[in-house]
Amino acid sequence: MKLTRKRVLVTGGAGFLGSHLCEHLLRDGDDVLCVDNYFTGRKDNIAHLIANPHFEAMRHDVTFPLYVEVDEIYNLACPASPVHYQFDPVQTTKTSVIGAINMLGLAKRIGAKILQASTSEVYGDPTVHPQTEDYRGNVNPLGPRACYDEGKRCAETLFFDYLRQHRVKIKVARIFNTYGPRMHPNDGRVVSNFIMQALRGEDITLYGDGSQTRAFCYVDDLIDGLVRLMATGDAIIGPMNIGNPREIAVRELAERIIRMTGSSSRIVKLPLPPDDPAQRCPDIGLAQAQLGWQPHVALEDGLRRTIAYFRAMVAEQGGAAAMQPATA
Ligand SMILES: NC(=O)c1ccc[n+]([C@@H]2O[C@H](COP(=O)([O-])OP(=O)(O)OC[C@H]3O[C@@H](n4cnc5c(N)ncnc54)[C@H](O)[C@@H]3O)[C@@H](O)[C@H]2O)c1
Repeated sequence: MKLTRKRVLVTGGAGFLGSHLCEHLLRDGDDVLCVDNYFTGRKDNIAHLIANPHFEAMRHDVTFPLYVEVDEIYNLACPASPVHYQFDPVQTTKTSVIGAINMLGLAKRIGAKILQASTSEVYGDPTVHPQTEDYRGNVNPLGPRACYDEGKRCAETLFFDYLRQHRVKIKVARIFNTYGPRMHPNDGRVVSNFIMQALRGEDITLYGDGSQTRAFCYVDDLIDGLVRLMATGDAIIGPMNIGNPREIAVRELAERIIRMTGSSSRIVKLPLPPDDPAQRCPDIGLAQAQLGWQPHVALEDGLRRTIAYFRAMVAEQGGAAAMQPATA
């Protein structure tokens, strides 16, 4: 048993990534304070942690100041999927920007280390492949995705200004597409969308011709990267790409999910939404060099675990979950 436990604040702790992070930190022996306004997060995601005496959940919106005493802050609060962040775009920008100011202010007051969950979306529709951290991006500041992309870019600016102006100990992770259990079933992200459609026997909606590629990181790998980055000394601050560089065409992903779920769903094509990037792939050289980190979970294994999670959810809802996995 640890005599002194680190006190760690996770904003957005009831969300997909946040709940896995809380779990990981508790396993490491930390005291965890989960703060969330439950906009996209769910109490179900953290229900299994509530009985742990080293876990505490607090309903709070990060656009308002927070006064707590902790040693480290992981700032994850922000809806991450286009359907959710475009639902109330003004609130999305406020969450990124005012949320960052509030959390950085807290870190400054109490001398805590703070890590920002930034995103590959800061690169916009990139003209450089794979994306390295020094690439400045190609973001449309006026489009429907801008509330998220520009909000996150401004948050990064604030982190570096708090470092320069107030010597706050910052870390900035640029997270690429991550998937796994506890993704929101209706978030419209490609992995959860395809799996839910396949399990329900609905048409699989492919935007464009499906030749656009994505690279998917399994949640356990991603969390391991975030925790390693937080544990580094003051000289390592990022921004640092964390993601899986193995690319797959979206059509191939759809076909694989149909096969793994044993579904009879058909693939139907829809027009591409505006500003949808054609390709997105991280260069993870920096994370490999500075954290000794790289992803380990193969897509097939990660998909199997994610399908099992959604299958149980669909079964609970009494849906058409009786389909047997063909390859799982
Ligand atoms: N999942 C990914 O692939 C991915 C990729 C890049 C970046 N990220 C970043 O990682 C973080 C977590 O993403 P996720 O996939 O877990 O998304 P998520 O939507 O599941 O989690 C976000 C959490 O933040 C909470 N939240 C939103 N606004 C809030 C507010 N104003 N105050 C308090 N809580 C608030 C939500 O209720 C939710 O629990 C986000 O900041 C996101 O931008 C995720």
